[in-house]
Amino acid sequence: MADAQPDPLQRPLSDGIVPAEEVARTEKRWLTLMVGMLIVMMTVVVLSGATSAIHPPSNVETIDPTTLHLNGEFAESNLGTAQERDGSLTARLIADQYAFVPDCVKLAVDTSVKFRLTSADVIHGFLLPSTNVNTMVVPGFVAEVRTRFTRPGIYRMPCNEFCGNGHHGMWARVSVVPKEQFQTLGPTERVSCVQR
Ligand code: CUA
Repeated sequence: MADAQPDPLQRPLSDGIVPAEEVARTEKRWLTLMVGMLIVMMTVVVLSGATSAIHPPSNVETIDPTTLHLNGEFAESNLGTAQERDGSLTARLIADQYAFVPDCVKLAVDTSVKFRLTSADVIHGFLLPSTNVNTMVVPGFVAEVRTRFTRPGIYRMPCNEFCGNGHHGMWARVSVVPKEQFQTLGPTERVSCVQR
């Protein structure tokens, strides 16, 4: 049977095929919606950055990655958790293939905590799930992140930047303990999660 309409574009559409005008109309609506969302999100980013100083960690502090272990802030004796005069805690760690040193730090709950990390070799990542801590650890720079833990417990921190064959096994832990318990810990117990 020959087609009544020789121009294929003019033939009536069979069931289930949406006409071109309707497709164009729908696409336009989606596009408007997307552009609207983009404008809202950009506004939120700019406003929160300008008013609440919320921005990605961008502490530009340099350090020589080849002499970390010899002296200075990241010498072995300085690693782990230190208590500052104002009662806040500073945890210093070195990331290297494929471990964090120390691999566990103890911290007190409801206390302001500052993490300072650096890398001895390649770029690693430092992430504490369900907290605001998430930063890259770049050799030559010190990464600094501030946080406060509201609940005691063990927080696992995976390296979240691919750093080589052993990346998947690069983990450390943060053990958050009650304040009173933290004060009773000796220096070696603050850098170890081994249970006695
Ligand atoms: Cu270190 Cu991945």
